[in-house]
Amino acid sequence: MNQRLHPHSTEMTSPPPHLYGRWRHDPMLLMGTAIAKVWWPFWRPMAPLHPTTADDGVTAVRLVDRQVVAADENVVTLTFEAPDGTLLTRWHPGAHLDILLPSGRMREYSLCGDPADRRQYRIAVRRIPDGGGGSIEVHDTLRVGDLVRIRGPRNAFPIAVPGHGSSARSVRFIAAGIGITPILPMMAVAERFGLDWSMIYTGRSRTSIPFLDEVARFGDKVTIRTDDESGLPSMTELLGPTDPQTGSTPGDLAVYCCGPVPMLDRLRTHLADRPDIELHYERFSPPPVEDGRPFTITLASTGQQIPVAADETALSAIRKTVPSAPYSCQQGFCGTCKVRTLSGAVDHRDNILTEPERADGQFLTCVSRASGDHITLDL
Ligand code: FES
Repeated sequence: MNQRLHPHSTEMTSPPPHLYGRWRHDPMLLMGTAIAKVWWPFWRPMAPLHPTTADDGVTAVRLVDRQVVAADENVVTLTFEAPDGTLLTRWHPGAHLDILLPSGRMREYSLCGDPADRRQYRIAVRRIPDGGGGSIEVHDTLRVGDLVRIRGPRNAFPIAVPGHGSSARSVRFIAAGIGITPILPMMAVAERFGLDWSMIYTGRSRTSIPFLDEVARFGDKVTIRTDDESGLPSMTELLGPTDPQTGSTPGDLAVYCCGPVPMLDRLRTHLADRPDIELHYERFSPPPVEDGRPFTITLASTGQQIPVAADETALSAIRKTVPSAPYSCQQGFCGTCKVRTLSGAVDHRDNILTEPERADGQFLTCVSRASGDHITLDL
């Protein structure tokens, strides 16, 4: 987790140097620091330069703009500013915000504005009628002027710029539908750094894909290809220009892709024997369960038994009985779905729980499973 301090946070943890440049610390300033350490925790929440924050990294930002950005009207952008107009925490392409919705749901949305603009955050949200309700709540309840609680930015999909952390010589961006959101700021960075880059933007139809006007400024570096006009793209089309002599995708390429699981899986398989091509990706739906065995969950509060199929996650099985069970990323990195195991051994499949948390019985229902036939959860 990259929890960051707000730029106006003040941490009084180390004594200041001597006022007159001597190597020892000034006694008056030491005394002032000691007083400040006692006084600051009480004053901090009321300080006018400090936004509304809680110790868990939650900040309140104001929704200042809302725009429809897809012709089918199912994608809106939301732009936020600090309520007091101060600078927001810096972020880099690929970062996302946790949006804490009034209902208690938490959802993660990629930042798709300009990382150089410290005054605003922008996200885009596609309305998903048959999803978990988060996108509908965003569309139907958040209005300009509202204070919205957020956590972050955090970055699970960073870009390594060729020549600055990557040995690749060119970059290929692949975005499908709302998967454009983390890719948009990456394209801007690639352009700013003068990289050799190109992009394919796919989707069901031109009416369903957002930001057509914004990607138009990049001219023929961007190929827009929709399923209704051209069918599903081939791997060669996704990966861009081929070497005229070999007919294959040139090496020293970094690929950044955000799209549906089947597309990512095809790309991963296709590039499995191409170590000369870096593949970086972000899913916007949960990964398929691999090597799953069926098991049963008992809910401690009611005694209900919930069967979990071999190809099903514990979270999706639980939500059939407890539709309000919290979740967000469904990929084992946000921690929203965490519950405690009261009995039964766990096959942990996440990367965020610490050993003490696992020893305490913590369990991420979106990815982890019982390692035996049965598990009892504190639900
Ligand atoms: S929903 Fe994010 S870790 Fe499970």
